[in-house]
Amino acid sequence: MRLHATMTIAVLCLLLFSGRLVAASKSFGGGGYGGETGGGESAVAAEPPPETAYQNAEPATPSSESSSSSTPSSESSSTPSSGGGGYGLDPAGEPENGMNQKAIDDILKEHNLFRAKEHVPPLAWNETLAKFSQQYAETLKGPCKPVHSTSPYGENLMFGTGGITWKTTVDEWDDEKKNYHYGSNTCDPGKMCGHYTAVVWKSTTTVGCGRVKCNNGDTMIMCSYWPPGNYDGVKPF
Ligand SMILES: *[C@@H]1O[C@H](CO)[C@@H](O)[C@H](O)[C@H]1NC(C)=O
Repeated sequence: MRLHATMTIAVLCLLLFSGRLVAASKSFGGGGYGGETGGGESAVAAEPPPETAYQNAEPATPSSESSSSSTPSSESSSTPSSGGGGYGLDPAGEPENGMNQKAIDDILKEHNLFRAKEHVPPLAWNETLAKFSQQYAETLKGPCKPVHSTSPYGENLMFGTGGITWKTTVDEWDDEKKNYHYGSNTCDPGKMCGHYTAVVWKSTTTVGCGRVKCNNGDTMIMCSYWPPGNYDGVKPF
């Protein structure tokens, strides 16, 4: 496969508002896995949609704002579970804030299920990436907005309210497969497929995720991938 000199790290967001998903991606060097087409990141739906409703939007914003991000402070984030904030468990019994073993197991299981379908090797958990993701997510607790990190890692983000589990999160990412065309290595116009390609990127070997309950009660989920995928002009597998 041909490696471009300019690597495209697509950094991807999904927003889930009351069950409605809104996806957004940002890429460095002009990526092909979700385009820089329409929309803003807003797209908060008025109607209360079913939990599977799915919608895409692209941020016009490229890379490098969010200056302070790549080393997101050392606030205690490793096991924030029983802090002051009324943290609980999601419907799968996994922490609304931070990780537990079940969350890690579910994240790997879902990623590796979809990877197996594409005949690519499974991912392993990477504690470095998990720490980074958790710490970075903590910095978004206040705004609870999809501001991407400037890490060199692949990145899938999701924001939402209510009813979120790791399984449904990764399932939604993989569901973008329907927007992806392997032959031409493109997404449907105006659609996202970069979360999916990140999940199944063959040369990615590890993943680490974080999760916070925002101050407003919404959820922010983040997974980082190493080595990163979504190189411009390269097929995921
Ligand atoms: C985990 O991620 C870090 C950060 O990118 C990387 O340096 C390290 O090699 C990864 N660990 C494994 C086992 O791949």
